[in-house]
Amino acid sequence: PTTTHRLRLRNAAQVVCISSTGQEFKRGKDMNDLAIKANASIVVAHDGKIAAVGTEEELLKLDWYKTATFEKDVNAEGKSILPGFCDGHSHPVWAGDRVHEFELKLAGATYLDIHKQGGGIGYTVAQTRAASHETLEALLTTRLNRMLRQGTTLLEAKSGYGLETATELKMLQVLKKAQDSHKIDISATFLGAHSVPKGSTPEEATKDVLEKQIPAVVAAREAGDIYVDNIDIFMEKGIFDYTQSEAILTSGKTCGMCINFHGDELNYMASAELGAKIGARAISHLEEVSDDGIAAMAAQNVFGVLLPTTAYVLRITPPPARKMIDNGVLVALGSDFNPNAHCLSMPFVMNLAAVTMRMTLAEALVAATLNAAASVNKSDLHGSIEVGKWGNFVIVDDPQWTHVVYEMVDSPVGGVYVKGEKVV
Ligand code: NIG
Ligand code: FE
Repeated sequence: PTTTHRLRLRNAAQVVCISSTGQEFKRGKDMNDLAIKANASIVVAHDGKIAAVGTEEELLKLDWYKTATFEKDVNAEGKSILPGFCDGHSHPVWAGDRVHEFELKLAGATYLDIHKQGGGIGYTVAQTRAASHETLEALLTTRLNRMLRQGTTLLEAKSGYGLETATELKMLQVLKKAQDSHKIDISATFLGAHSVPKGSTPEEATKDVLEKQIPAVVAAREAGDIYVDNIDIFMEKGIFDYTQSEAILTSGKTCGMCINFHGDELNYMASAELGAKIGARAISHLEEVSDDGIAAMAAQNVFGVLLPTTAYVLRITPPPARKMIDNGVLVALGSDFNPNAHCLSMPFVMNLAAVTMRMTLAEALVAATLNAAASVNKSDLHGSIEVGKWGNFVIVDDPQWTHVVYEMVDSPVGGVYVKGEKVV
C-alpha cells in the first residue's frame, strides 16, 4: 500500500533537529548539542505533523517510506533547515508609534524619564484605547506577516495597552481573531498590570486588576470570547512593587493562567526570587537579576526570557545570559516587539544575543526555538524537528545554518513552512 504525505523536503545539507529524544527543553552545556543531521530529508503528513526525519538510508528502513508519495516534493540541496522560530515575548497589539521618543532616548532621555512624563506605555495606551478592533486587527496582521517572513511560527503575545477592562478585552479579542486565523501560533498573555493608568495610584491599579480585570478576563475566556494562557505584570520601581506583583500574579495563577512576567529590568526588584517562590513559568528581562535570583530560578525551572533588543535600544547593560546559562537557568529569547523596541526579527535577536550577551550561536538557536516554546508550555508541538511535532520550518539559503544569525539585517531566510505548507 502507498501512503501519501503532504511534503518531503529532500536532501538538505543540514537539518538542525535541536533534540532527537523528545526533550521538553535544554539546559546548560546541552544547549550546544543541536542534533544536526547532514544530507537529510523531512516528511510531513497530511495532519501537518512530522512523520519522519533522517538521511535517505535511515528513511529507507521505514517500510512505508519505500512506496510513499508526496503532494509536494522539494529539493533542499545546499540549504539548511531549522525549526520555525519561537518568540518568547512580544507586545504586538497597539496603535500609533513612538518614533518621536526614539529620538528623545537617542538624545539621552531614559525609559523611566519618559514614562514619568506620561510618555512610553501611557502614550500607547491612549492611542490603543481610541483604536477600533478593525484598526488593531489590521496593524496586528501586518506585524504577524512580517514576523512570519523572518521565520517566527510561535509567538507569545501580550495585551497591556488598555489598563482597564474594556481595552484589555478588546486587545485579547483581537489576539483571538489572529489565533483562530493566522499561520503563526500564539500564546496569549493578559497584561492589565503593565503600568499605572493616568490619574491612578499603584494601589488603585492593583485593586482594579484584581477585582475588575481578572474576573472579566476569566468570564470572557469561559464564554469563548478570548483565549488567555498567561498572566503578566510590569514589576518595576514606581510601577508595581513586590507585594502588588505577588497578589496579581498569584490571583492569575489561581484562575488557571501561567505566571510569565516582566521583572528585574531597570532596577533590582527581587523578581527572580518572587517568581521562583510562586511557581512562575517564566520571567522576562532580568537585566538586574541577583545571584540568589539566578540560583532560585535554576532550582525551580523558571525560564529566563532574555530580550537583547531592550538593552540595545535603551543602551543599558544586557542581562547576564552567560552566568544564567552556566548556573543552570533555562534561557529563552524573545523579540520584545513593542513601540520601544521595534523588532520583528528573531534572526536579529539571535545575532544580538550572541554579540551582546555572549551566547554561542547554538545557545541562541535553542533559546529561540525549543526553550522559547517550552517557556509557554508548547514544546510538545513546537521548537524542534522531531516526529509528531508540527512541520514548521525555516529554510536557510546556505548549507551552514549559522548564516541565519551571521548575515545581519537581510537574513537568508529562503522559505518558511507551517504544518508542512509553504507560507513564505
Ligand atoms: O518589555 N517593560 C515593560 N514593557 C515593555 C515595554 C513596553 C512599552 O514601552 O510600550 C518591554 O520592554
Ligand atoms: Fe515587554
